[in-house]
Amino acid sequence: MHRQNFLIVLVLFGMALSGLIYLNSSQNNNRLIYLNSSQNNNSCYQHIPEQVVNKSKWKQTIVGLRSSPGLSYKQPSALVGRTDVASVTPWSAPIIWEGTFDATLIDSIYKQQNLTIATTVFALGKYTRFIKDFLESAEQHYFVGFRVHFYLFTDQPESVPEVKMGENRSLTVLKVQSLNRWQDISMNRMEKLEKLIENELAGEADYVFCLDVDTMFYGRWGAESLGRLVGVIHPWFFDAPRDQFTYERRPESLAYIPAGEGDYYYAGAAFGGTLEDVHNLTKTCREHLNIDAVKSIEAVWQEESHLNKYFLLNKPSKLLSPEYMWRGINEGAAPIKIVRFANVPKNYAEVRSNA
Ligand code: UDP
Ligand code: GAL
Ligand code: MN
Repeated sequence: MHRQNFLIVLVLFGMALSGLIYLNSSQNNNRLIYLNSSQNNNSCYQHIPEQVVNKSKWKQTIVGLRSSPGLSYKQPSALVGRTDVASVTPWSAPIIWEGTFDATLIDSIYKQQNLTIATTVFALGKYTRFIKDFLESAEQHYFVGFRVHFYLFTDQPESVPEVKMGENRSLTVLKVQSLNRWQDISMNRMEKLEKLIENELAGEADYVFCLDVDTMFYGRWGAESLGRLVGVIHPWFFDAPRDQFTYERRPESLAYIPAGEGDYYYAGAAFGGTLEDVHNLTKTCREHLNIDAVKSIEAVWQEESHLNKYFLLNKPSKLLSPEYMWRGINEGAAPIKIVRFANVPKNYAEVRSNA
C-alpha cells in the first residue's frame, strides 16, 4: 500500500472510531436521563451521579418525592385535617391514619421510584395454618402495584400452600430449625431478619417490613407506610397513659424503660423501614436479647420489649396508626375508620407448643 493511501485509511478509521464513541456516550446519557426521570431500573440507578450522596452498602433509596405534571387530586388544606387523632409526633414524624393521605397522589409519587418491598413472615409449628390467608389477603391489599418479595421462614417448607402471586410479586421459602418455645421463635426473628438483610436483601430491596403471620389484610396497606424507620402503634395501648404500657420494668434487662418515660407502645407484630435502619434495629435488639439471656433475664414481651426500648432511643421517622395492626376484624374503636391489617383469632393453648 502507498504511504498516502495508508494515511487516508488511518484517518477514516479514526473518524469512524470517534463517531462510535460519541454515539455510545450520548446513548448512555439519554438512558441515564430517562432512568432518572421515570422508571429507573435499579441496577443502573446507582450510576446516576447526582443521586449518589454517599457510598453505602445498601441500595440507595432516598430520592425526591417527584410528582407527575397534570395529576388531579383534592387540594390539600393547611387548616383542615383529622381532629380526633394526632397525626404528628412531638419529634415531627407523621402518624398515618385514614384521612391523612391521598392514596392516588402517594401511589403516583412512589411508583416512579421502582421500589422493591421485601417482607418477612415466620410460620413455625402450627402457625403454618395462617400462611394461606396471610398471603392471599396480601395479594388483595398489600402494596398492590408494587414489586413485593415475601420471605417466608418455616420449619416445614413442604406444608407451604400454593398461592397464586400477581405480576412482580414473589415468594421465597427459607427453611429454619424448629424451636420449642414460642418465645424463642418470636425472639429469633430479630437475628434471622438481621442476617437476611446482610446476606440477601442488600442491593435487592429498598424497604423491608417484618410482619406476624397470624394476621390478615382487610384494607389498603401501601406506600403511605414507607419511611426510614417505621413503627406501628399497638392496638391495645393507643389511648393509655404511658405508665400502663407493658414495657419491661426490671432495670436488669436492657429493655428496661422506667416509669415516667416512653412515647408510645409499639407492636412487635409489624415494623419496617430502609435496609440500613432495620438492620441496625434488628442487630441491636438481637445483641440485647443475647446479653439479657446470658444474665438469665427474658423481657416481659420478648423482642417487642426490646423494640420499644430501641424506638424510645431511636425515634421512628414514621408511625402507623393501629389501623395497620388492629385487634381483630370484628373489633371497633372510635378513631379506627378502616381496618387494614389485623390479628386473626387463635386458641393460644392449642396453637403454641408451650402455652
Ligand atoms: N410464631 C410461629 N410459631 C410459633 C409461635 C410464633 O411461627 O409457634 C411466629 C409467628 O410468625 C407469629 C409470631 O411468631 O405471628 C409471634 O407470635 P404470636 O403471634 O403467637 O404472638 P402474639 O401476636 O399472639 O403475641
Ligand atoms: C397483646 C399481644 C402481645 C403483646 C401484648 C403487650 O395483646 O398479643 O403480643 O403485644 O399485647 O401487652
Ligand atoms: Mn401474632
